[in-house]
Parts: sequence; C-alpha cells; structure tokens
Amino acid sequence: MNQGPIGVFDSGYGGLTVLKEIVKELPQYDYLYLGDNARTPYGTRSFDTIYEYTLECVKHLFDQGCHLVILACNTASAKALRNIQQKDLPLLAPEKRVLGVIRPTAEIIGTFSKTNHVGVLGTSGTISSESYKIEIGKQFPGLSVFQQACPMWVPLVENGEHLNSGADYFIEKYINELFEQSDQIDTLLLACTHYPLLIEKIRQYAPEDINILNQGEVVAPSLKTYLDRHPEIAGKISKGGDLTFLTTDSTENFDRHASLFFGSEIHSKFVHI
Ligand code: DGL
Repeated sequence: MNQGPIGVFDSGYGGLTVLKEIVKELPQYDYLYLGDNARTPYGTRSFDTIYEYTLECVKHLFDQGCHLVILACNTASAKALRNIQQKDLPLLAPEKRVLGVIRPTAEIIGTFSKTNHVGVLGTSGTISSESYKIEIGKQFPGLSVFQQACPMWVPLVENGEHLNSGADYFIEKYINELFEQSDQIDTLLLACTHYPLLIEKIRQYAPEDINILNQGEVVAPSLKTYLDRHPEIAGKISKGGDLTFLTTDSTENFDRHASLFFGSEIHSKFVHI
C-alpha cells in the first residue's frame, strides 16, 4: 500500500493558518495543500456550489495519493463535509477519511467560557448553516452561542487592506453587532481561517479580558489525538516533512500572498481542477 501526504484543502490562502499550526504539532508528516484560489471566496456562495467545488478538490487530493484530507475551511466544513462523509466517501473511497474544523473546535470551546456565553465570528455561509450552534449544542448544551457574519473581513484580508485604518470600520461594526446580542460573551471563536490575521484589531474593539480562540491551535492537537487513536490511518501517511502547495490560480499571486498566512516563503504549483 502506497503511503501519501495529508491533504489540506481551503478555498484559498486561509487554510494556511491552520496548516501552519498542524505542521508545528506534527512536523514528521508530508503535506499537500490545495487552495482553490480561482474560485475563492466560497463564503458567499450557495450550498450546492460549495459542495460541488469542495468535492472536486477532495477528489483531486485523493488522486494525488492522500488518504486523509482536512477541510481547513469553515465554509467547506459547514456546507460540504457531511455530504462528502456520508454520501460520497462510501462510494468513492471507503478507506479514506475527510475531516473538518468545526467538530474539534466545538468539542473544546465550552471549556474556555466562565459566563457560558460565547461568540462565533464567520463568513455568511458558515453562520447561516448554523453548524457551530448545532455542534456546540451537542457538546455543551448549557452554552449560549451568539453568531455574527462578517462578510467584509475575508475581502479585506485578500486585498491586503486588513492592517490599514479603513479596515477598522468593518472590524468595529461586526464586533459591536455581536456584543449587542449579549454583553456577557467572554469567549470569541474566529471561525474563519482568515481571521487570525485580524486578531490585533479584533482585540482593540472587543472587551479587554476576552478569550480569543485561534482555530489552528485547536485543530492541530485534535488531529494529533485522532491519529493516535487511528493507527490504521496514521500508518498510511508518508513521513519526511515535505510541504507541497497547489493552487488553481496564479502561482505568482499565491506565493506572494501565501507567506503572509503561512509565515515563510512558499513555491506553489498550478493545478487545473
Ligand atoms: N476559508 C474560508 C473559511 O474558513 C473563508 C474564505 C472564503 O470565503 O472562501 O470560512
């Protein structure tokens, strides 16, 4: 049986913030990252479109030899994961696994809150799916979950405007709208892969002693636990610490932007999906 890298998928650059934390936690494995930059953003697209695009990308990662694929995108995890796991995998590749980022985050968020009021910030797609409310409700039934869609935040980051003063208007607006729903929120979940890049500005407009959960830091240890519990999957992952990056759009753009998300230089390859 051929071993293969862990596939990490995102609609664009954002999943690199998750990959960065996973590589820190599990540096021994090989990774194949796929960013669907040609069709990003997913956050405002319909359920059917997000499902179709995500499935195509998962199939591509399978074709490249991945036995385990992480959907490092909240929008894809919210809108496509369940269908892929329940409908497609049993027919396509029953031995392979696709995991998302919502369940591991929902499993831990309640342990951070003293007031039992948490806030979830995400794309319109993630928030309208109610996935976080549903998953957190299963793990922590006593927790009140308040959600806020932040549709302008991904475009601000994608366009490199997130650290400029123009970004403050939209950061403050969505933070205020969230805290208008409850002033007891003491824990904020950044339920979008782009939002860690906005963390300093989010802190500026949120109450001083707020806990802010960076998802990559939650997903990485949870993946380690998963692989410890599933040696039959861990045994299929190749080791060597190789990182390969694929993009469905310009490699030049990808390499320029991606280092911002990943923290070090990247040389990507173009792939047509
Ligand atoms: N990566 C996506 C997420 O975590 C955000 C970007 C997009 O809208 O495609 O939800």
